[in-house]
Amino acid sequence: MDSIVVTGNGPLQGQIPIAGAKNACLTLMPATLLSEEPLTLTNAPRLSDIRTMAQLLQSLGAEVSQLQDGQVLALSSRALDNHVADYDIVRKMRASILVLGPMLARDGHAIVSLPGGCAIGARPVDLHLRALEAMGAELDLRDGYVHARAPGGLKGGTVDFPFVSVGATENALMAATLAKGTTVIRNAAREPEVVDLADCLVRMGARIDGIGTHTLTVEGVDRLRGATHPVVPDRIELGTYMLAPAICGGEVECLGGRFDLVGAFCEKLDAAGVDVTETDSGLKVARRHDRVRAVDVTTAPYPGFPTDLQAQMMALMCTAEGVSVLEEQIFENRFMHAPELMRMGARIDVQGGTATVTGVERLKGAPVMATDLRASVSLILAGLAAEGETQVNRVYHLDRGYERVEEKLRGVGARIERIKGR
Ligand code: UD1
Repeated sequence: MDSIVVTGNGPLQGQIPIAGAKNACLTLMPATLLSEEPLTLTNAPRLSDIRTMAQLLQSLGAEVSQLQDGQVLALSSRALDNHVADYDIVRKMRASILVLGPMLARDGHAIVSLPGGCAIGARPVDLHLRALEAMGAELDLRDGYVHARAPGGLKGGTVDFPFVSVGATENALMAATLAKGTTVIRNAAREPEVVDLADCLVRMGARIDGIGTHTLTVEGVDRLRGATHPVVPDRIELGTYMLAPAICGGEVECLGGRFDLVGAFCEKLDAAGVDVTETDSGLKVARRHDRVRAVDVTTAPYPGFPTDLQAQMMALMCTAEGVSVLEEQIFENRFMHAPELMRMGARIDVQGGTATVTGVERLKGAPVMATDLRASVSLILAGLAAEGETQVNRVYHLDRGYERVEEKLRGVGARIERIKGR
């Protein structure tokens, strides 16, 4: 398995291009299953999760071609010759469950393995299933698979989520576009990736009201057409690279970055003493003083502080002046990076869903273990600011969500190398 070696090297300077959003692309790709006409996605990120989704769609009978070095995805699902999403692919990535709604809506039957994914909590799919049941689906859970049927097609219904789920909203929304009649989705997620999916579905001919709000009203149509859609920039990759100059000093411009994608995050950066300014081509970031100030952070659904930036924010807080309290409200087990940061000299006390971080002046390089996608990158950020060498082991999670991470960070002056594993 590969590892990454980072050596603390002082201030960073330059530009980092931000890719299209992994999480948007992973829900836009299954949208191809809703139409017999081609769907083209531009600004696609080049990541292993995207390749896994391509593999899954191909196993169902869709055609997927990666053009322009993977930045354009040409998808086509003229006919699906298999309606079983196999465990061997699904276990690699939780987002695989997103093929269930579209397949069921299109052909009235689907069998999908229950997913795996990052080990950041129980992460069930009950809300996805309940939403499809509200549209008339008959579901049966057998041998680790969801067997779904809608003999006369899905019918419009009311989906009332007890709490916000990004994936369940996406599955319900895609299914509703082809259901007969009107579907109302209450307590829908408003994440930019959900909005991006809704925008793409509208391009394909779907009728959706309330995009970007908590209530989505979908008028089912008989068929969807093809479309070309640009993937929204990745706000998590953006936030991650914005933290690099906040941690190391210097000034970095994140190309393609937009304030509206990272509002709550920018408020916290400002409170910590980090300036973010809009430029013609993105967002420029520099800290105001040598050391940032401690700020408290509570994760919440969009537009709140994203759980996917909590680990990286903790890396920043490790060297802040003062004590910060980080509360994780989305996932029950998402502080696995804390003990690893402590190996680097951080002072962190985790009690349930709350981590209290007492800033130290300097972290020290150490061998650490990447436990999940965002944890991996938080350790790299910490390593950039640490004294000496940090070896981040087991980085395969990183390649699921960050394209060319070493190249992008080297481009702004970081000392970072990948060591190929055997
Ligand atoms: C998506 C993102 C992930 C991000 C998360 C929260 C993708 C591919 N992944 O994940 O990076 O961290 O949103 O912003 O887009 N839950 C249930 N039952 C369900 C579904 C979810 O109990 O059927 C729970 C989860 O365990 C979690 C919470 O709901 O505690 C929110 O999860 P959800 O928004 O569904 O996350 P994902 O869509 O899996």
